[in-house]
Amino acid sequence: MTPRRLVAPVAVAASMFALAPVSSSGQQGLSFEQYRARVEPIFIAPRGGHGPGMSPCATCHVHSGTPLKLQPLQEGENGRVFWSEEQSRMNFEVVSRLVVPGQPERSRLLRKALAVQAGGAPFHVGGKFFESQADPEWQIMAEWVRAAGTSPDLTAAEATPPPLDFEFFRTCVQQIFLDKREGRMECIHCHGGGSRGFARTLSEGRAFWNLEESRRNFEVLRRYVEPGYPLRSRFLTHPLAPEAGGDHFHSGGRRWLSQDDPEWQMLAAWVRGQQTACVNY
Ligand code: HEC
Ligand code: HEC
Repeated sequence: MTPRRLVAPVAVAASMFALAPVSSSGQQGLSFEQYRARVEPIFIAPRGGHGPGMSPCATCHVHSGTPLKLQPLQEGENGRVFWSEEQSRMNFEVVSRLVVPGQPERSRLLRKALAVQAGGAPFHVGGKFFESQADPEWQIMAEWVRAAGTSPDLTAAEATPPPLDFEFFRTCVQQIFLDKREGRMECIHCHGGGSRGFARTLSEGRAFWNLEESRRNFEVLRRYVEPGYPLRSRFLTHPLAPEAGGDHFHSGGRRWLSQDDPEWQMLAAWVRGQQTACVNY
């Protein structure tokens, strides 16, 4: 297979800047212009090789079903690849969900490809690309995220992540994994094991998880929760209808058709660290 040439769309980015100098983003202060001109090119920058830690991010993130799901690239003359403005806007929506405005260190986009000893996530199938936070590309992403933090609506509660209540998870949230809803399959059927196994299969004759099993379920589910931010928590957006602000795709279908669903509201309160009554039905 011959390597496909990937060249950053510098010309496109420069002309964009000239046309749209003012931020128009509604995503909690994140600038689309800055994203398109500076951050997005990082995803297609060539890295001198193939495979984890060496392929351009887009090689994997255009095709795979990962949360960083980018639009398919267009090909111009000389094999130069690019995203149209409309595509960039769709990418922006997706990428914005992976950051916590004002807080690069807490943003999944920045933690995933960063070395563990530099504060990165423990694991990334795509490998580690940034040795330290001083990396120029990492700094570009950090500047973009930091710039959004100046927005006055970042409350103190958002600046410090609230703890996620395990007891509430154990006694109430887990019940959802077992509850059937008309026409929908229960989570436990598909999330009983493996890397997404937050609802481990129960052994014969048992109706609920014991303390030890609950802890293991909790450790897995935490990966899909961003404390303080219900709409950045995949546990809440994956099974939520796309029209209601959910993710574009979930093989398991939709459990919540709207954010007004009492169960969704309860989970949102839990993610925000608020006290809430258990709603099960
Ligand atoms: C060789 C393929 C590959 C490359 C190259 C790659 N990734 Fe990934 N990435 C994956 C896979 C697979 C996942 C999902 C599994 C995981 O979380 O590790 C993923 C997950 C992610 C996530 C989602 C984290 C989450 O769970 O919310 C982010 C963010 C991410 N990658 C960023 C990047 C960035 C930035 C680059 C380029 C600097 C990059 N990746 C390059 C394969 C790749
Ligand atoms: C019919 C099988 C099935 C059912 C039922 C199901 N899921 Fe899923 N779920 C999947 C598969 C497969 C994936 C991975 C591919 C994808 O994102 O759709 C997934 C992904 C997810 C993810 C994102 C994981 C990631 O890696 O980003 C979350 C969160 C999730 N499911 C939550 C739930 C919840 C909560 C329920 C129950 C209300 C549920 N699922 C029911 C099959 C299912």
